[in-house]
Amino acid sequence: MAESTRPVRTLGLLGTGVIGGGWAARALHFGIDVIAADVKPEMEDWIRGAVANAEGALSRLTSAPLPPKGKLFFTTDLNAMASQADFIQENIPEQLELKQRVLAQASRHAPADVVIASSTSGLMPSDLQRDMRFPERLLVAHPFNPVYLLPLVELVGGARTALAALDAATAFYTYIGMHPLRVRREVPGHLTDRLQEALWREILHLVNDGVATTGELDDSIVYGPGLRWAAMGTNLIYHLAGGEPGMRHMLRQFGPCLKWPWTKLEAPELTEELIDRMVEGTEAQAAGRSIRALERLRDEYLVAIQQVLRQFDIGAGTTLRRLEERLYADSAAALASGGGSESLRRAGSGLPLTLETQVRAEWADAGGEMLDYRYLQVFGEAAEALFRAAGASAQGDHGAVAALRAVESHVTRQARAQALETISVTTQVLAVNESRVHLFHRLARRGDDRLIATAEQLYEHAVAAPGASPALADGLRARLDELCRAHARLSVPPQAGRRVVLAPS
Ligand SMILES: NC(=O)c1ccc[n+]([C@@H]2O[C@H](COP(=O)([O-])OP(=O)(O)OC[C@H]3O[C@@H](n4cnc5c(N)ncnc54)[C@H](O)[C@@H]3O)[C@@H](O)[C@H]2O)c1
Repeated sequence: MAESTRPVRTLGLLGTGVIGGGWAARALHFGIDVIAADVKPEMEDWIRGAVANAEGALSRLTSAPLPPKGKLFFTTDLNAMASQADFIQENIPEQLELKQRVLAQASRHAPADVVIASSTSGLMPSDLQRDMRFPERLLVAHPFNPVYLLPLVELVGGARTALAALDAATAFYTYIGMHPLRVRREVPGHLTDRLQEALWREILHLVNDGVATTGELDDSIVYGPGLRWAAMGTNLIYHLAGGEPGMRHMLRQFGPCLKWPWTKLEAPELTEELIDRMVEGTEAQAAGRSIRALERLRDEYLVAIQQVLRQFDIGAGTTLRRLEERLYADSAAALASGGGSESLRRAGSGLPLTLETQVRAEWADAGGEMLDYRYLQVFGEAAEALFRAAGASAQGDHGAVAALRAVESHVTRQARAQALETISVTTQVLAVNESRVHLFHRLARRGDDRLIATAEQLYEHAVAAPGASPALADGLRARLDELCRAHARLSVPPQAGRRVVLAPS
C-alpha cells in the first residue's frame, strides 16, 4: 500500500449492529462524519437510537473543547458507502465466508489508499484479505463493547498487510481517543479474547460442576482482581505479589502449581442444563433491571473510572489525558490561526465559550441541584480552557495548566443548575499584567441568557523554580492581551469587583 496520508473525515461502516453503532457514536463525537451501511433498512432507526443512547455518558467523558460533531448518513448501498469513505470499518456477523465476500466487494469500490479494518473478534486477517483488491490495506481492528467508551482496539496485520496501513490505522484510532494495541502476530482470538475465553471456560466448568453460581463467580472478580485490573494487568500485579524480588520469586513460589494445574483448559459440554444455570444465574444478578438500565449504569461507572485513572496517569487514564492534550492543542491552533475555530466558539455576547458540559449526576445533591464546590470546579475548567486556547501548555501531575493558579475567586449564584442539564460558561478577560490575569466567567443554561452563576477570578503565574521569572511567557501574554482588548468593548459585569457583605436587614 502506498503511504496513506488520506485524512479521515468520513468513516464508512459495513454493518451497523451493536459494534457498528458503537463505532458511529465514537467517531461522530470526535468530529468525524459517518456513512453507515447495512443490508437492513430498519437499521437506520436502530443506529440513530444507539448513537443517541451513547451520547449521555460520552458527553461526560471530558470537558476539553471538542470539534463540531460529525454528521451521520445511512445507506443500504454498500458500494456507494465504499466509494465515499476515507476509512472503512467492517462489523458484519462473525462468519468467514460472509466477511470475505463483503470485504472483497467493498475493496472493488474503495480507492486504493482507503484502509479497510475488520472488527472481527477472532478471525485471521490473512483469511479476510484473501479475495480483496489491494489486500495490503486490510487489517483487523478489534474493539470492545461499548466501543464509544472503552479505548482498547487490537490491531492485527495479515500476511499481506502493509505497515503503512497499520500506521494509518494507529493514527486514526488515536485521533478518536483510543489505545491501539499492535498485535505482533496473527493468532485466532487475537490477545484479549484468548484471555477472556480462558476465564469464561473456567466459569462454565465451575457452574457446571455446581461449585459456584454466576453471581458468586462475578463477585470473585468484582471485589478483588477486577479493581486491580483497571490499571495494572495480571503480570505487573503478580510482579508486586512476589514482594521485593518480584516476578522471579512469584514464579518460584507458585510455578509448581501450574503443573497440577488448577484449571481445566478444555471447555465443558454446553448442555441444556448448563445453559439454564447460566441464564438463571445472570437473570438473578440483573434483579429485574433491563439491559438498557444496566448499560446506563455500566457507562456511567466506565466514565468515572477513566476520570479517576486520568489523575494517576495510568492505563486508560493516560489515553484520556493524551486525547485531551490533543483537543486543547487543536483548539489553541485554531484560535491562533484566527480561523473562527469551532473548538472555542463564541457565544452570542462575543465572548469565548470556554466550557459546555452536562451537570454530572455525581455533582448534584440528593435534590438534583449542583453542589456549591462544583461551581468552582466548572469555573476552574473554563479558565483552563481559555489559557490552553491562548497557548499555555499543560504541566504537572494532573495534566492541568499548573503554571497558572487561582489566588482569588468570588462566586455568585443567581439560580441553581440541575443534574443532567447542559450548562455553558463564557469567559471575559478583564485585565492582564506581567504575571496576573483577571477573569470573569458567566454560567448559564445552554441556549438561555439568564445567569445561573458568575465567578470573578485572579490567576497568578507560579514561579517554576527559585529565582525564575514570575512573568507570563511572551506568546501567552500577547494572546491574553489581545483577548483583553477585544473584551474591553463589552460592559464590565456588575458583579465584578464586588465585596462579600452582609446586607443590613
Ligand atoms: N458484540 C461484541 O461484543 C463484539 C465485540 C468486538 C467485536 N465484535 C465483532 O464485531 C462484528 C459485529 O458484531 P455485532 O455484535 O455488532 O453483530 P450484530 O449482529 O449486532 O450486527 C451485525 C450487522 O451486520 C449487518 N449485516 C449482515 N450482513 C451484512 C452485509 N452483507 N452487509 C452489510 N451489513 C450486513 C446486520 O444486518 C447487522 O445489523 C463481529 O465480527 C463480531 O465478532 C463484536
